[in-house]
Amino acid sequence: METLAGQVALITGGGRGIGAETGKQLAQRGATVVLVARTQAQLEATAAQIRDSGGKAHWFAADVSDESAMREAVQCTLGITGNIDILVNNAGFIQSVGLIKSSDPAAWWRTLEGNLKGLYLTTRLVLPPMLEQGRGQIVNVLSVAGARAFAGLSAYSCAKAAGLMFTRVLAKEVRKHGVRVMAILPGAVDTAIWGEGEGIPDREKMIRPETVAQIITQMLLTPADAAIDELLVLPQEGIL
Ligand SMILES: NC(=O)c1ccc[n+]([C@@H]2O[C@H](COP(=O)([O-])OP(=O)(O)OC[C@H]3O[C@@H](n4cnc5c(N)ncnc54)[C@H](OP(=O)(O)O)[C@@H]3O)[C@@H](O)[C@H]2O)c1
Repeated sequence: METLAGQVALITGGGRGIGAETGKQLAQRGATVVLVARTQAQLEATAAQIRDSGGKAHWFAADVSDESAMREAVQCTLGITGNIDILVNNAGFIQSVGLIKSSDPAAWWRTLEGNLKGLYLTTRLVLPPMLEQGRGQIVNVLSVAGARAFAGLSAYSCAKAAGLMFTRVLAKEVRKHGVRVMAILPGAVDTAIWGEGEGIPDREKMIRPETVAQIITQMLLTPADAAIDELLVLPQEGIL
């Protein structure tokens, strides 16, 4: 089995869903995993599952859009592990803001900022140690909504589309310095992000979060002479 032994992976949104599954799978490959999210109980539970399976896991409770909290999380990680080899920028939330004509400006900006600011801030904080060691990998978890239009999701979609261009610019800036930058754009994945109640697409037809985690793991294990640049991953039956 290909290995990530000796590598340290910081995963934002690592408490549940795609981030938690990615943490488990990277730990199975030997990486030391550092999970960041706001809900301490979920971080503890995911880290405990990883450790119970023989993996190495740490966690920090932080909001990715809070620069000082993220600086502390990154510094603590470096203090414990000495380096960060992999960053999975995964924290995010889906928020319908309704049709543009009737959307609330405050909610619109909150949704845009909440899905974009952490991607920028976390990347900015993790890049210096990666560039110093001349090696690193960054996977940005974006969305099909960043590449295709869905009515009612304008703010979320704009954040994910901006994340895609951010990924492209970042790759231009750092690829020559040994840092590989990739984006994954999933369609609907069966996680808590959809909430409860009516109007949710059929969960049975969504992608399993474990599958997205498996694909992210494969992206990270791609031989060093290539990069899976931008990957659109849709449910087999094609919803979303
Ligand atoms: N599920 C889908 O259909 C789907 C499709 C395409 C793309 N995505 C993207 O995949 C990523 C993960 O989503 P998911 O489906 O796994 O959702 P999820 O189950 O709701 O998990 C989201 C994770 O992100 C964390 N998070 C959210 N905002 C945060 C913040 N400001 N600071 C720190 N952590 C934060 C959450 O923890 P706390 O709330 O405790 O902070 C949680 O651990 C998101 O970026 C989402 O946009 C999801």
